[in-house]
Amino acid sequence: MSLFRPASRLRCGHFRYLTASCRPNPDYVSLTSAPSNYDNSAVVFPGFLSEAEGRDLLKEVQKRMNRRRFEEGHWDSVISKYREIELKTPDEVNNMEALSDDSNVQEFAQTIRRTRDLLRSYLSPHLAKNEILWLPCHAIDLSKDGKLDAHVDSVKFSGEIIAGISLLSDSIMRLRPAKGEWTDDETMVEGLDGHVDLYLPKLSLYCLHGNSRFQYSHELLPSFSVYQLHGKDIHVARGRRLSIIFRDAL
Ligand code: OGA
Ligand code: MN
Repeated sequence: MSLFRPASRLRCGHFRYLTASCRPNPDYVSLTSAPSNYDNSAVVFPGFLSEAEGRDLLKEVQKRMNRRRFEEGHWDSVISKYREIELKTPDEVNNMEALSDDSNVQEFAQTIRRTRDLLRSYLSPHLAKNEILWLPCHAIDLSKDGKLDAHVDSVKFSGEIIAGISLLSDSIMRLRPAKGEWTDDETMVEGLDGHVDLYLPKLSLYCLHGNSRFQYSHELLPSFSVYQLHGKDIHVARGRRLSIIFRDAL
């Protein structure tokens, strides 16, 4: 390993140096049906979280979700049978808001910090800006029969990064060239065919930027008894899914 690489690129969490889970793995992205001008702006870091980090995150989110009811979603809504909360870390709350101070909050905050650090170091060559201003994370608890249909995240509320940690179940996320309905963007190319699929196992992290953020919609596909990924058959049982979503400010 070169001694001349900046330390921030080498470090991956506490005392861990570039392990496989800190690099995107192209085996988890299917480009078989991708449009020819696709810019490879969606990546997956399989096994990004350890089992222990996943458990701590789950505990903290479940504690905060506790009193929320599942929402049905309206007839025209993109998401149904889900609960969603904003997930602030201790340094994101103002002192009027209380965060319970049991010890799990610190592990949770550390995982959020580690994820943002990795995203910053991965994305720095791809972004125009030097600083990323993170919005508070969101947690989405999607029930087994809940749906997340194709959409482009609002360009009025968040910036150029969408990333997510997947917990509880595996899924396939499909990106498709978006039609103009989602944005006012006049450069949007209408009528392009094709799609890009991301395989998102539990404990993985995905990140959408570039075209994948602005020109493509994203959605979660239902379960597959057999899904062909790079010539291998995989079984994808999309049960109840908990995701932690990272976005940046405009
Ligand atoms: C969203 C979204 C994806 C996920 O909340 O806008 O696309 O991984 N979520 O839960
Ligand atoms: Mn979205």
